[in-house]
Amino acid sequence: MTSGGDAPGMNAAIRSVVRASAFHGVECVGIYRGYQGMIEGDFQVMGPRSVHNIINKGGTVLKSARSKEFRTSEGRKKAYEALKRENVDALVLIGGDGTFTGGLIFNQEYGFPVMGIPGTIDNDIYGTNFTLGYDTALNTVVEAIDKIRDTASSHDRLFFIEVMGRDAGHIALNAGVGAGAEEILIPEENLGLDRLLESLERSKRSGKSSSIVVVAEGDKIGKNVFELKDYVEQNHPDYDVRVSVLGHMQRGGAPSCFDRVLASRMGVKAVESLLEGKSNYMVGVRDARMMLTPLEEAVKGKSEINQELLRVSNIMTI
Ligand code: F6P
Repeated sequence: MTSGGDAPGMNAAIRSVVRASAFHGVECVGIYRGYQGMIEGDFQVMGPRSVHNIINKGGTVLKSARSKEFRTSEGRKKAYEALKRENVDALVLIGGDGTFTGGLIFNQEYGFPVMGIPGTIDNDIYGTNFTLGYDTALNTVVEAIDKIRDTASSHDRLFFIEVMGRDAGHIALNAGVGAGAEEILIPEENLGLDRLLESLERSKRSGKSSSIVVVAEGDKIGKNVFELKDYVEQNHPDYDVRVSVLGHMQRGGAPSCFDRVLASRMGVKAVESLLEGKSNYMVGVRDARMMLTPLEEAVKGKSEINQELLRVSNIMTI
C-alpha cells in the first residue's frame, strides 16, 4: 500500500515488494488508495508480471490518499474486516510518518504485523539517511533553480524560491547548496529578517547583481514567501524581486537511479523482515547499510539537519 503524499520511487518499491514476495512463494495483494482503499476492500492480487515497466515511473500505480475515515475506530474496524476477508497476514506500508502512525495504531488495536518503507520527498523520517523520492526531488529542484538563475541573472533580479519539505529544511538546504543559492531559509535555523537583509546587502556589495534565496515552505522566519518579497522591496526599493513557488512538480517525474536502487533494496528488506517474523519496524538505510528502526521511534524521532552542510552553505554564501 502507498499512502500520504506520493513520491518518485514508490512504484519501484511496489515492484520490489511484489517480486520479493513471489521469490519467497508468498502471495501479494496491492491495496489501492491507501487506508481508504483498505477500508473499502479495494484490493488487487499482484504477481511479478503485474509490476513490469513501472520501475521508471513517477507517482504510484496503487494511487494514494489521506484517509479521514481511518482516523476513526469504526474506519479501522472496517479495514481489519476487509483484510481478514482477503486473507491478508501482514502489511507493507509505503509512506511517511502519517502512514506509519496509522500502521502503529492499527497494530496496537488488531495485532496486525506491519512493516514501513519510508516514501516521502521531505526526507523527514528518523531512522534512515534517505527516504524514497528525496533524491529525485532534489534533482528536480536543482534543475528548476538553474533555469530560474538564467533569467534572474539576465534581469539582475532577486528571486525567492519556495520549495517543499513540510516542517523540515532538508530539500531547501541540500538543493540550495547544490544550486549555489545565495541564501537558504530553513525552519531549523531562524535567520531573522534583519540578518536576511544584511546578507542581501553583503551580496550586493561583493558585486553580485542577482540572487537566489531558497525558502523552505516550513520556514519560521514569520513571513510567507510573498510577504518576504514585500518586506525586502519596502526596505530596499532598488531590488527587483520575484517569487517562484515550485509546488507539486517536486513530487513528480521519473525516479533517479538512486531512488530506484534504494526502493528495490527497501522492498526486499521489508518482505524478508516480515517473513523472519519481525513486525512494527521501518526499513531504512544508514551508512549504506539496510537497517530496521522500531516504527514508534521512526514516528517520534527527529531527523536532524546536517550541521556540517549548514556550515558549508554559510561559507559558500560569502
Ligand atoms: O510530504 C510531502 C509533501 O509534498 C510536503 O512537502 C508538502 O508540505 C505536502 O506533502 C503537500 O501535501 P498535499 O499534496 O496534500 O498538498
